[in-house]
Amino acid sequence: MKDTYAIASIPGDGIGLEVVPAAWRVLHAVAARHGFRLEVTRLQWGSDFYHRTGRMMPADGLDALARHDAIFLGAVGDPSIPDTETLWGLLIPIRRAFDQYINLRPVRSLPGIPVRVRGVDEIDLVIVRENVEGEYSSVGGRIYQGQPHEAAIQEAVFTRRGVERAARFAATLAEGRRQKVTSATKSNGIIHTMPFWDEVVAGVMAEHPDVALEKVLIDALAAKLVLDPASFDVIVGSNLFGDILSDLAAALAGSIGVAPSANLNPPGDHPSMFEPVHGSAPDIAGQGVANPIGQLWAGAMMLRHLGRPEAADEIESAFRACLAAGVSTRDLGGTYGTDGFTKAVLEHFSK
Ligand code: NAI
Ligand code: MG
Repeated sequence: MKDTYAIASIPGDGIGLEVVPAAWRVLHAVAARHGFRLEVTRLQWGSDFYHRTGRMMPADGLDALARHDAIFLGAVGDPSIPDTETLWGLLIPIRRAFDQYINLRPVRSLPGIPVRVRGVDEIDLVIVRENVEGEYSSVGGRIYQGQPHEAAIQEAVFTRRGVERAARFAATLAEGRRQKVTSATKSNGIIHTMPFWDEVVAGVMAEHPDVALEKVLIDALAAKLVLDPASFDVIVGSNLFGDILSDLAAALAGSIGVAPSANLNPPGDHPSMFEPVHGSAPDIAGQGVANPIGQLWAGAMMLRHLGRPEAADEIESAFRACLAAGVSTRDLGGTYGTDGFTKAVLEHFSK
């Protein structure tokens, strides 16, 4: 096992600049307790960098990231820059260059945060989102701009390899959980790509006889997720469906501020990237009130990915214990700021 891990840290914009340093305090403390070191390269990329240079990251940015064991990202996005620039200038190139083909989003209810569905006490599901193809494609274009017959065409791209590896990841994950995979589809309306998705998913699932496959149309699935979230174990979806369902599920579990995500390159040929689900939250940026749990939980996922599960568990137990003791930030109805909550997590280790 390694004793030092090289991590590229990109706080980004808005509250990313607040929750990333908070998470580092906790990550360094946990690493020290478990006898390893995290060597951090802080990269000041994001909207300020864009205003100075016209780019979200330097031209050789991906080469710089490639030399690290993992990437720890806050959030990017600023009201002064179109979101397409921030997304296609930083996040999407990283996901694609490093073949981070799985976006993993665990959704679990937390102590002291009521699930937003009446009668449901607990949510524990994982969303596996295909992360490098599907509906998020640059194939297409616009023609006849400004004329009455102006048109836009956007092609979705689904490959057998892409769908197979997402389905296989979901099935393997479900084997270690409650043995159920729900596949999000829309094969009634979208007649080429979605029947193909269904076929390939079913083929992969046949190799995992212990795992039950349930195929649900995305509209019905959205409703079922709201009405009966406890009936789900692992949900696998395309890039777009997975994105939408994960925000929905995160909101059900309490707050967008607590949800983590991992962009994984499962074979480990390239660094994986860990980030909270939330964005840069310009409405509360600079006030010191952002909830650091999404970032902390993403940090725990990073440590688990690096082969340090005990350290990861310790972070998760610490913030759960704080919440259980009534220590929480404003978005959860509490009174603690980012700094106060982080201190409470750190104090928990010395108990
Ligand atoms: P957002 O997630 O930044 O904020 C949505 C709402 O949730 C806001 O009211 C915000 O105050 C609140 N919130 C979010 N995180 C919180 C936290 N940790 N603690 C307490 N409250 C929190 O989403 P929004 O407003 O749609 O997007 C803002 C910017 O962030 C945009 O530029 C968008 O493109 C970008 N964005 C970036 C993402 C990324 O870097 N991966 C993901 C989502 C949005
Ligand atoms: Mg999203």
